[in-house]
Amino acid sequence: MRLKDKVAVVTGANSGIGRAIADRFAEEGAIIAVVAMNQERIDSTVAEIKAAGGRAAGYRVDVSSQDEVKALMASVAEEFGRIDILINNAGITRYRPFDTTTGEDWDMVLNIDLKGVFFCAQAAAPYMRKQNYGRIVNISSAAGTGSTPGASAGSPGATAPYAAAKAAVNMLTKTLARELGPNGITVNAVAPGTFPTAISTSTRTPEELAAHLERRKQTLVLQRIGTLDEVATPVLFFASDDSSYVTGQTLCVDGGRFDRM
Ligand SMILES: NC(=O)c1ccc[n+]([C@@H]2O[C@H](COP(=O)([O-])OP(=O)(O)OC[C@H]3O[C@@H](n4cnc5c(N)ncnc54)[C@H](O)[C@@H]3O)[C@@H](O)[C@H]2O)c1
Repeated sequence: MRLKDKVAVVTGANSGIGRAIADRFAEEGAIIAVVAMNQERIDSTVAEIKAAGGRAAGYRVDVSSQDEVKALMASVAEEFGRIDILINNAGITRYRPFDTTTGEDWDMVLNIDLKGVFFCAQAAAPYMRKQNYGRIVNISSAAGTGSTPGASAGSPGATAPYAAAKAAVNMLTKTLARELGPNGITVNAVAPGTFPTAISTSTRTPEELAAHLERRKQTLVLQRIGTLDEVATPVLFFASDDSSYVTGQTLCVDGGRFDRM
């Protein structure tokens, strides 16, 4: 077991990529703090992890609230004695053509996808510093590393605030790695490509999503859509001691987009 008895805070753990990470980490022996907004799905996630023989506790927290995030880390540390791993996975998007993207869209996406990452890292760091040990993994996006022709095909519009937030997360990853490295804390990012989850259906019909995935495959060296486990595995690498000498890196997990080859 690569995460035996490690305490892992996973934001957005009740859905999609976060859920796959939580399940994988629980199998590897970690205690999972399931952080999300929807209480019902937090409860079912915790129950299912426990039913599978894992350990988990649920926390209803808005990652864009600094007060809630501080209280979250204090509760986890009080209940489990430490915080070893933070997976900053919670995120949203709003597809909208640039011309019609509102200030409210911008604030909503940046507050959750960027400020939330910063708040969570800042609130977890004191506990990790005390231990002289920590692993922070930020889930950014291939959208934050460059645009691909047809990237927003099948959606009503584009992703200006999302791409800006995710690019900023990649830079924040390097900055935090520099600041926290002397305290035995590594900070890395995983940038997923396209995976069909709630976020990808939030602004598309099932038909639009199917068309988008089909087009997406044509832009990938591997010519297929990945599984959620194929994202969880590289996240596990950064969260475990397998990556003890790696920090400040962003790893694209996207099937190899042609525009980066
Ligand atoms: N699915 C993809 O194609 C894809 C691609 C690249 C990056 N990502 C990133 O992966 C991460 C997970 O996305 P997903 O695809 O699993 O989507 P998802 O919609 O299934 O999951 C998002 C999770 O974030 C949580 N969340 C949203 N706002 C929150 C808030 N304010 N506070 C706390 N939790 C909040 C939700 O409850 C949910 O659990 C996101 O950061 C997303 O940007 C996804």
